[in-house]
Order: sequence, then C-alpha cells, then structure tokens
Amino acid sequence: MLNKIDYSKKQIIDMLSLKNSDELNDLYEKAYQIKLDNIGGLVYFRGIIELGNVCEKDCYYCGIRKSNNKVNRFVFDKETIIECAKWCYTQNYGSIVLQSGESKDKNYVNYITELLKEIKKIGNGELGITLSLGEQDEDTYKAWYNAGAHRYLLRVETTNNSLFRSLHPKSHSLEERIKCLDILGKLGYQVGTGVMIGFPGQTVEDLANDIIFFKEKDIDMIGMGPYVRHSDTPFGQYLDNSDEVKKERLELGLKMIAVARIVLQDVNIATSTALQALHPLGRERGLKAGANIIMPVITPKIHRKDYMLYEDKPCMEDDAEDSKINIIKMVENIGEKVVLGKWGDSKHFSIRKNIK
Ligand code: 5AD
Repeated sequence: MLNKIDYSKKQIIDMLSLKNSDELNDLYEKAYQIKLDNIGGLVYFRGIIELGNVCEKDCYYCGIRKSNNKVNRFVFDKETIIECAKWCYTQNYGSIVLQSGESKDKNYVNYITELLKEIKKIGNGELGITLSLGEQDEDTYKAWYNAGAHRYLLRVETTNNSLFRSLHPKSHSLEERIKCLDILGKLGYQVGTGVMIGFPGQTVEDLANDIIFFKEKDIDMIGMGPYVRHSDTPFGQYLDNSDEVKKERLELGLKMIAVARIVLQDVNIATSTALQALHPLGRERGLKAGANIIMPVITPKIHRKDYMLYEDKPCMEDDAEDSKINIIKMVENIGEKVVLGKWGDSKHFSIRKNIK
C-alpha cells in the first residue's frame, strides 16, 4: 500500500514543518484516512484514575514535582480506587489507566500489586488495565504484570539527551527510562511512550527523531501532548505563555499525532487532555488528526485539583457520568463511534506478537 512507506527523517521534518492551512488540512486528512484503514472510525475509552500525587521525581515542568510544596499530597485508599474501577466496569469502559506520581517505596509497590489483584477480580478480569506509574525495577514491573496489568505508559518526554537534561535534574536519566521501556516489552506488556511537545529549545528535528524512536522501538501505544505551563515550577516561571505561543503548541501537538499516525500506522494513539487545556475542542481535533484513544477522568473530584500537572487542566468539575455522555456525543459529532466493553488493544501489538 502506498502509505506503508518508510519515511525519511527529512520527510518527517517536512510534514511537521507545514504551516499553510490547506497543506495542514491535507496532512490531517491523510492521517485520518490511515486511521480509518487501520483501526476504523472507532474510539476506545480508558477511564483514568489518578490515584496519588506523591512523587519522588522533580521534573522542572510538572506541577506535582517533589519540590512543589504548595501541593496537597494524597493517595486514595483501596476502597475508593476499587469503587472507581467497578464504576468503569459497570459503565462498560473496557479499560482503565492507573496513574500516579512516581514512588519506588516497597509499601507503595505492594499496595499497587494488591490493588491490581482486586481489580482483576472485577467482572472476571474483563477490565483492561494500563499502568502509568513511572520508572520501576524489573521485579516490580513483573509483579504488576503477574497481578493483571498488561499495558504500561512511560513517556520519555524527549529523545534528545541534552533536552532531557534541560527538563530534569541530574539524577533523572533518559537512558534509565529507555531501559524501562525495554524491560516492559520483554515482560510482555503493551508498551506506550510519548513526549512533550513544544517546550522551549525543542525543534521539529527533535520531534522527528522522537517519531523515529517510536518506530525503531516498535512502540505499541503513543501518549503525547503539548507542554502546558505550570507557574509553580522552575520551567513555568520564565516562559512565554502568550496566546500565540499556546496556539503554536496546540498545532504542533496535532501535527505530531498526524505524523505519528502516518509513520506508525497501526499503533494506539491517545488524544491528550493537554490538547484540551489549550483549546476547548483540542481532544476532538486530536481524534480528527489520527488519535483513537480517549481517557475520561474518573479520579474522585475531591483530589482532582491536587493532580494539576499543568495549569488549566480541564474536567476538574465534570461528573464521571456527564463526562461519559459528553464524550460519546462529541465522538458521534465527528462521525465516529465509541467502542464500549472492549479492551481496545493496540493492533500493532497483536501483529508484533503473532509475528514474533
Ligand atoms: N505540560 C504538559 N504535560 C505535562 N506532563 C507533566 N507536566 C506537564 C506539563 N507541564 C506530562 C508528562 C508526564 C505525564 C504524566 O504528564 O509528559 O509524563
């Protein structure tokens, strides 16, 4: 098929550099067509439970970084999280994502293992479980896999080492993160990664290299979104945050989805909440640019404001029930269909597993 070509770095850079609106529309249409060919006009749900904001990491851009002492730290108790998971199951969401700040503390690791076992009992294992709990050692990833998780999201944030250095303190390492992705793949997880888009110093060449990295690493799922300022972070304090800059970041975020779809074809790509933080229609525009996964926020409202990775995070006050109805409506408005009750695994993963 014509679309199944190996794109050169130059071609990827050229696509990411498009500015003219006709050319951009052509790019989005091409990506959308590839999504239809590979996945159909279908959107899968992942109910995301942000279960805690205690974090050992100190990333310069993130609102829940360890050094931000304005944050009210929390971890939800088991009953609350199980309640959320049960709600997702009865609502036919198909899958959940458990996300939190990063902690390698043994008690926390064991807490997650116990939680997974409990969640797995809901509906006899019918609920798919994705984890997004940061860098861990192999034994932890293995214990969580054995307890029932089958997908893992771990963004590398950028594949340019010097940019990674500019985003993080010395103790954080890109190499370590890539090692984690390799371990996750080896253990049998569907592996997801992604980058932040449009932060200062990043070029389209860097973003092209990120996409090439996804391809070379045979990544199954992509979760990426525009950088959004948080003013209580070192990065957020000196940043140009004009409407003009926000618009550029939004557009670059959409272009990254489209180009990732064109180059990677059959992976799952999430339309990120950060897109919606920059534009009220950000998430549907992500779907129209080639994304096929949406992550409705299920986190109990009491702590949503304590999980502000960035400013203007949407859905703070939405009831889970309303948000389900609204998202289904939004998806239908763009002529697509939400698939309920299915895991919605990455097609890339199934193909990769059959071949290997
Ligand atoms: N803007 C956009 N995305 C952010 N994340 C954290 N802080 C920000 C921010 N200020 C993203 C990171 C992380 C994910 C959980 O949230 O990419 O991996």
